Amino acid sequence: MNSSRLPIFSRISGTGSYLPGEPVSNNELVARGVDTSDQWIIERTGIRFRHLAAASVTSSDLALQASLRAIESAGRVPAEIDLIVLATSTPDFIFPSSAALLQDKLGIKNGAAAFDVQAVCSGFVYGLAIAEKFIRSGSHRCALVVGSEVFSRILDWNDRGTCVLFGDGAGAVVLEASDAPGIHATALHADGSFNKILSVPGQLCGGQVIGSPFLQMDGPSVFKFAVKVLADVAKEVLDAAGMNAQQIDWLIPHQANIRILQSTARKLGLPMGKVIVTVEHHGNTSAASIPLALDDAVRAGTIKRGDTLLLEGVGGGFTWGAALLRF
Ligand code: ACO
Repeated sequence: MNSSRLPIFSRISGTGSYLPGEPVSNNELVARGVDTSDQWIIERTGIRFRHLAAASVTSSDLALQASLRAIESAGRVPAEIDLIVLATSTPDFIFPSSAALLQDKLGIKNGAAAFDVQAVCSGFVYGLAIAEKFIRSGSHRCALVVGSEVFSRILDWNDRGTCVLFGDGAGAVVLEASDAPGIHATALHADGSFNKILSVPGQLCGGQVIGSPFLQMDGPSVFKFAVKVLADVAKEVLDAAGMNAQQIDWLIPHQANIRILQSTARKLGLPMGKVIVTVEHHGNTSAASIPLALDDAVRAGTIKRGDTLLLEGVGGGFTWGAALLRF
């Protein structure tokens, strides 16, 4: 602990992302036997493609590729990482954590702390807020925060109401101690009484799956809940930082569905031109979607150093959260 250096801020010094394999179009899902259409999926969700990992590929494999890119773009090497926070709802194993497996795959031998965060589609924002608190405490200086998912493993391909929405992928950032912000404000919330509207209500017991191993969702309830809390939590972090929505250069919401993004932007009084939208290319990748969208926009030159970003997520639990930061 190095409290003599407080206050320490944290800033994102690098971003990376990874999508496995070739994009799978809506029409390819139809060809594979899903009872749907390109038109229905685009009109209701904005999704055109998703990526589906091969059966042998795990969350920590996707996380490795995204992390290597983030570490390189930060100008760091893996041995400098002293904290790994990996958000996933589709871990490689029950244990050890995918974060520990990622640490091994990165060849990090310095004893860096590593753990998974389970907050479904809010997982990356949860991970970022947690890492920020570690850095501000002075205990850690160079964190790797990752969202990585193989949601295709928990989809029922006979349930057209859910299987068309999700995809696999990973995104990562390096978050470092800094003399100036960086992250201005974060907020995290949960309300477990909404656990039934989005869940995978299964467990392993005695070698059997008890309950269901597949994602179940009450789509309209999720839609209403998501739009409300995304607007509320955005206002909360803006208030905490003494800023207003007009000062945001880019809103990067969880990429679930174009209509949720549009409704959230409308509630905040932001034009869609200020919202990073990548959902059409990869569908809902849960904890990976925010860092995927961030990295995509950074590498395209859309997001530039010094821009003010509002990252926000919502997902099963229900959980939700936001981070307001200077990139
Ligand atoms: N293709 C064709 N028809 C379909 C499909 C499909 N893939 N899925 C459902 N339908 C049909 C239904 O059977 C229904 O038919 P019916 O009227 O004959 O009974 C009709 O479409 C309407 O179904 P709804 O579920 O009412 O459709 P809705 O307009 O609500 O759209 C959707 C469904 C897109 C899931 C919407 O509720 C939604 O966007 N919810 C948010 C869910 C979300 O984004 N979840 C992501 C995970 S949560 C998160 O990340 C925060």
